[in-house]
Amino acid sequence: MKKYVLFFGLALLVFACGQKNESNAGDAQATANPSPAPANDKGYGEITNVTLNDPLDQGMIQKGKAIYEMKCAACHKLTGARVVGPSWEGVTERRKPEWIMNMITNVDVMLEKDPEAQKLLEECLTRMPNQNVSIGDARDILEFMLSNDQAK
Ligand code: HEC
Repeated sequence: MKKYVLFFGLALLVFACGQKNESNAGDAQATANPSPAPANDKGYGEITNVTLNDPLDQGMIQKGKAIYEMKCAACHKLTGARVVGPSWEGVTERRKPEWIMNMITNVDVMLEKDPEAQKLLEECLTRMPNQNVSIGDARDILEFMLSNDQAK
């Protein structure tokens, strides 16, 4: 039953994001056309502005945690050393929220263009796979990362 509810929740999220994506994509095209994006610490992708919650949203943290356990935990630990990918300890202090969400939702372009992502690739020698994480799910994961860094 719990599983079903979670699944339904995720399905709703994906649906909601699908709608959002469409208008975002339009905006991105309108602004991205004149010149290629300069190198910047927000990374490359659709995410140009993230508003953070204060205090953090507990519901989002729980959703983000569930996605982490399903899709990310095999390669990322929450503290300590790198496994396949870097530990998430301090990631929200090292990176801008926009950079993190672009890395999650647009990893192929990030690895191709973003100098910081490329440095990680040199260290880790493995490409993070594109897992088709929606923007809504990436936002929940970011909330979970922020709570992981605040917990210390
Ligand atoms: C198969 C292993 C693997 C999985 C699964 C994976 N990653 Fe990664 N991740 C990596 C690697 C390796 C890097 C370093 C960049 C590279 O080499 O591609 C990375 C880098 C990152 C970074 C940048 C970290 C930093 O220190 O700046 C973030 C953020 C990230 N991943 C988020 C995620 C999220 C969210 C998920 C789950 C939806 C996920 N990753 C799943 C391997 C993985």
